[in-house]
Amino acid sequence: MMLTMDPPRHTKLRSLVSKGFTPRQVARLNDHIADMSRQIVDDVMEQGECDFVEDIAGALPSYVIAELLGIPLEDGRRLYHLTEIMNTGTVGDPVAKDAQMQMFVYGNELAARKRTDPGDDIATSLLLAEVDGERLTDFEFNMFFLLLINAGGDTTRNAAGILALLEHPAERARLAADLSLLPTAIEEMLRCTSPVTVFTRTATKDTELRGITVRKDGRVAMFYPSANRDEAHFADPDTFDVGRNPNHHLAFGGGGTHFCLGANLARVEAAAIVPEVLSRMTNLELAAPVERVRSTLMNGIRSMPVRFTAAAVVQR
Ligand code: HEM
Repeated sequence: MMLTMDPPRHTKLRSLVSKGFTPRQVARLNDHIADMSRQIVDDVMEQGECDFVEDIAGALPSYVIAELLGIPLEDGRRLYHLTEIMNTGTVGDPVAKDAQMQMFVYGNELAARKRTDPGDDIATSLLLAEVDGERLTDFEFNMFFLLLINAGGDTTRNAAGILALLEHPAERARLAADLSLLPTAIEEMLRCTSPVTVFTRTATKDTELRGITVRKDGRVAMFYPSANRDEAHFADPDTFDVGRNPNHHLAFGGGGTHFCLGANLARVEAAAIVPEVLSRMTNLELAAPVERVRSTLMNGIRSMPVRFTAAAVVQR
């Protein structure tokens, strides 16, 4: 998988897939993401309560990935549920294995379908794009497909960001009263929630990090939540401040070769759904305790029952 490859193979694959992730391509999706966000909130409006993860935060990324891949939106939801089963099953769990098989079957069928019936989507560009005269093999396509569904789904559920707002009512009121703070608020939610907990790197030679020797082939764990609370870098790192600026957090990585390919997209998604939630689901509050995802890799929320008062549709 690209995430675990080194250059030059990584560079080649990344230049193939990044063709679908330029800010221009993401901007093209922009309006559509706004419509989807409105629709997602519309769908729960009447109920006055919902599971924020299942009905809102999980819905948007799975629809967006479906849109990117050029597959039906319901399939996006199905694939997303499969990743949940895969990621929370224990090693060897037959249910998790079955979910993985279903995922690969879907990836194979998708590749076959897009080859005979190409569309204006990232799946087609991935299958047709060439670097140095080479195209992705079916296996590479499948691996990228898996990475995309995983990387773009779990991480981007902004339930944790909304929870941070619920836990800091003064900051929530400040943002709701002045939506021009949205860009800094989103970065602060990313910093404070750090959706990815840890990735590792392997030292290619003996080296030293802040006085600690790391031997060649030794592994270093990078804890993103820790970096994002580095008191040498952030003033009052434990304060949640929706106006924090500058805010050079590392939630998407440290800017190296593996820097998150979906960072633009994730920001666009958050910028669409957060105002929709703040302006239309007033008096939003927890209806029961949140249930967290049991994972060492992701800081995610599995279930977040909420209640709210429906506000009128906002004309934009
Ligand atoms: C809030 C949401 C997200 C967070 C916090 C996040 C975080 C990260 C992090 C920490 C990395 C690894 C960086 C490194 O090792 O240096 C990464 C890589 C990646 N992310 Fe994201 N991500 C998010 C959303 C997305 C989305 C929406 C997509 C795609 C639709 C995506 C696709 C990827 C891919 C493909 C990689 C691997 C890049 C490579 O190996 O070159 N991510 N992400």
